[in-house]
Amino acid sequence: MDNAVNNEKIKILSIESSCDETAAAVVENGRRVLSNIVISQIDEHKLYGGVVPEIASRRHAEAITGVVSEALEQSGTKLSELDAIAVTCAPGLIGALLVGVNFAKGLSYASGLPLVPVHHLRAHIAANYITNPDLKPPFLCLVVSGGHSHIVEVKDYTLMNIIGKTRDDAAGEVFDKVARTMGMPYPGGINLDRIAENGDENAYKLPRPKVADSPYDFSFSGLKTAAINIIHNASQKGENVNVEDLSASFRNAVVGCLVDNFLKAAHDLGYKNLVIAGGVSANSLLRKRLSAECEKLGYSLCMPELKYCGDNGAMVGAQAYYEFKKGRIAPLDLNASATMPISFFNT
Ligand code: KG4
Ligand code: ZN
Repeated sequence: MDNAVNNEKIKILSIESSCDETAAAVVENGRRVLSNIVISQIDEHKLYGGVVPEIASRRHAEAITGVVSEALEQSGTKLSELDAIAVTCAPGLIGALLVGVNFAKGLSYASGLPLVPVHHLRAHIAANYITNPDLKPPFLCLVVSGGHSHIVEVKDYTLMNIIGKTRDDAAGEVFDKVARTMGMPYPGGINLDRIAENGDENAYKLPRPKVADSPYDFSFSGLKTAAINIIHNASQKGENVNVEDLSASFRNAVVGCLVDNFLKAAHDLGYKNLVIAGGVSANSLLRKRLSAECEKLGYSLCMPELKYCGDNGAMVGAQAYYEFKKGRIAPLDLNASATMPISFFNT
C-alpha cells in the first residue's frame, strides 16, 4: 500500500447525503475504516414508492449532526486529530447534497480543517479499496447504481473516463420500477433479487437491447417496458404473472446486458483487472456470473463487501484520501451539483 513507506496516518471525516442515506465515517489512509454510521430513510420513502426529494432533505438536516458526532465518537477521534473533512458534492438530489455540503463547510470553517469535495461515483468505486486492500488502478470498473450505469476506465486513483453508459434508464432504476409494478416495496432491487432466486430465468422471453454502433453503451428502458407490459397484459386478462419467474427472467436479462458489455470492453481495451461498484453491485446474480466468467478468463475481479455497495460515508473517506493527496481542497464557497461528469476532478 502507498502509505506503508512513510508511516503517514491521514484521518478524514467524510459525509454523504446525496440520496436517502445520511452517512458519516472516519477513514485512515483511505483503507482503514475507524467508524461508519449510516442512517437510512428507506422506511419513510417506502410509503410513496420512491425517494421524495423534499422529505430526503429534511431528514438529512435532522440527522446529520447526530450522525457526524456518532462517527467521531465511535472512531475515538477528536476533531483536532483529523486531517481533513470530505463531503459528497455531486451528483445526486440537489437539496439532499446541500445538507451535507453546508454542514461540511461549517465544520471546516469552525475547525480550520481543509475541505475535500468528492464525486459520488468515484466514492462508490473507492469502496473497493476498503474491501480489497491490494487493489490499485489501473482497472476497469462497472459502476451500477440507482441513477447511473457506467463502464469506467480507472487509470489512476483520480484519473478516470467513461467508455460506456446507459442511454436511458439506469440498472438500479429499472430493477426498482419492475419490482414496484409487481407490488414489491421500495427499493425493489434487493427484493427482486431475493425473489428471483426461486424462479426460472428462462420462463419469460425478454429482449437484450443493444445500442447500435456503441458496443459498450446500455439501454434498459425497452427491457423495463417489456417486463411491465407482461405484468399489465396478464392483469388485463385477470391473470397473475409468476412473480418468481418474471423476477428471475428480468434479472437474468439485465445482468446479461451488464456482463456482456463489460467483458467486451475489458477484452477490447486489454483490462484483466475488473471491479464492480454501486448499489447494484450487491446483486447476487451479477456477482456470481462475473466471478465465474472472470475465473474462466483468468481475470481478477474485486467487489465491495455488501455493506459498502450502497451509499455510505466510508467510501467517501476512501476516495477523499486520494483526492486530498492530489491537493484537491475546495474553497468555502463550494456548491453542490445535481450532475457532474466523473472526469470533472481528473488530475
Ligand atoms: O448506489 P446506490 O445505493 O444509490 C445510488 O447512488 O443510486 O444504489 C441504489 C440502487 C437501487 O436502485 C437499489 O434497488 C439497487 O441499488 N440495489 C439492487 C440490489 N441492492 C440494491 N439492485 C439489484 N440487486 C440488488 N441486490
Ligand atoms: Zn450511490
